[in-house]
Amino acid sequence: MKRLFFCFSIVVLVSCQKDNGGGDYVPVPENPERFYAGGKTTTFLATSDAFATPAENLTQEEFDKHMDGDLQFEQTFVTAPAPVNSGLGSIFNNSACIACHPRDGRAGFPKDLNARGGLLLRTSLAGATSKGAPIAVPGFGTQIQNHAVHGYEAEASYSVRFEESTETLADGTKVSLRKPIFALKDTYKEFPAEAMLSARLATPVFGLGLLEAIPETDLLASQDIDDADGDGISGKANLVWDPSLKKEVVGRFGWKANVGTVLVQSAGAYHDDMGITSYVFPDEHCEGQENCQDNSTGSPEVSDEILNTVAFYCRTLAVPAPRDIDDPTVLKGEQLFSQIDCAKCHTPKQRSGPADVAALSNQNFYPYTDLLLHDMGESMADGRPDFLADGNEWRTRPLWGIGLTKLINGHTEFLHDGRARNITEAILWHGGEAQVSKEKFKALPKTDRDALLAFLNSL
Ligand code: HEC
Ligand code: HEC
Repeated sequence: MKRLFFCFSIVVLVSCQKDNGGGDYVPVPENPERFYAGGKTTTFLATSDAFATPAENLTQEEFDKHMDGDLQFEQTFVTAPAPVNSGLGSIFNNSACIACHPRDGRAGFPKDLNARGGLLLRTSLAGATSKGAPIAVPGFGTQIQNHAVHGYEAEASYSVRFEESTETLADGTKVSLRKPIFALKDTYKEFPAEAMLSARLATPVFGLGLLEAIPETDLLASQDIDDADGDGISGKANLVWDPSLKKEVVGRFGWKANVGTVLVQSAGAYHDDMGITSYVFPDEHCEGQENCQDNSTGSPEVSDEILNTVAFYCRTLAVPAPRDIDDPTVLKGEQLFSQIDCAKCHTPKQRSGPADVAALSNQNFYPYTDLLLHDMGESMADGRPDFLADGNEWRTRPLWGIGLTKLINGHTEFLHDGRARNITEAILWHGGEAQVSKEKFKALPKTDRDALLAFLNSL
């Protein structure tokens, strides 16, 4: 029903374009294709389930597999031995995928940092392994697990303080910003002072199969590493070691694009976030960590089938359609988004190539990301390199679905560490290559800022 309505309104809009003579100019979407933010996977649900809906174009068999994966995404793991979902820990951050990705969406900035939540701290020493990966901190690895099963000690507790600052917009509006500075307390052994920490908040997991199916050659061709076009914006693909394919691939997932595939991201989540081994990461994350024990029984704690199914689930979640895209204010905001250079990194349109799942193949879709790394300036820097991403660089976040965050997750906390409390704050944290774009935003009159926000909230 919903879908019919949308098709109908596209027809009406196209005809409006021809006979709006006399009245105010009402721009119409130049591109009705944009209704289908996820190509044929798109869902027109705009409810609290909008991030958790199967792609519209799956076969029955794929749909069934997706639903199996849905179940796995929700499973809570427990201490071994147990008849099902055994093997949590011994040290971990949380016990279920859904616990960090609520409603397949975004975790909020935790009210209690050490309750089980969706924020985790990565760590490493300076330098890189022979594969280009971050160097593990002896006794702590590359992620700080702040929970442990009974009889073991967590590596540390997280602590945070905030640095407050104020940005003043051209019309005098003042916006206060907070920057969280994280540290560790109660470490189970001495934590080296020179070790780096990087906070990461769990992101939505829909639409990922489409992002995964953008041909590598297209991503590499869209780079502008030396800023040859002189616009102050250089994009760089991350190149990462893939432990499953055993080769270097273009990084696409995570805030620094440090993982190439949804499969490896999922296996990494089981391994590092939950302490669960799989065929991709067969060894417990215990090496050199006295507080941790390999409690697996020799075979992976999560079966190959479950790992593959949970990855399939994330790959085949539908993308929610934008709303109100024919609203004049939203259309004005869409123009501004290009005019003030947001679209230079948040590339509106991408196209997938052939994929093993037909539903994901050869789709035009609208993620608003180039999947490339950009220097976002000192104030956003974590100072922790991850493969080719240096301490200032972050992957352009997709903006699809961002306007549904409040409805689905009950908050509007954005950026890698959740420092922004709304979209305006998120924009004001942009620096480095995005500094000029940010300044253009600050110079806009309020009506234009509101139009830009209306556009972002329509996504
Ligand atoms: C402790 C919280 C936590 C748990 C548990 C967790 N995740 Fe995540 N997830 C995160 C964080 C944080 C990120 C961002 C990681 C980064 O940037 O390095 C993330 C990122 C992802 C991404 C990449 C999304 C993107 O757009 O880049 C996928 C896919 C994902 N998680 C899947 C899973 C699956 C599947 C599970 C369960 C097996 C899971 N996660 C369990 C916190 C968690
Ligand atoms: C130079 C590239 C670049 C430009 C230009 C740019 N962005 Fe971004 N944007 C990014 C990156 C990279 C991130 C992720 C930052 C992080 O990791 O915390 C981001 C994050 C965001 C977020 C938060 C998304 C989330 O999921 O947390 C919003 C909102 C956003 N940008 C909007 C805009 C708007 C609006 C403009 C134009 C005024 C703009 N951006 C210009 C690169 C850019």
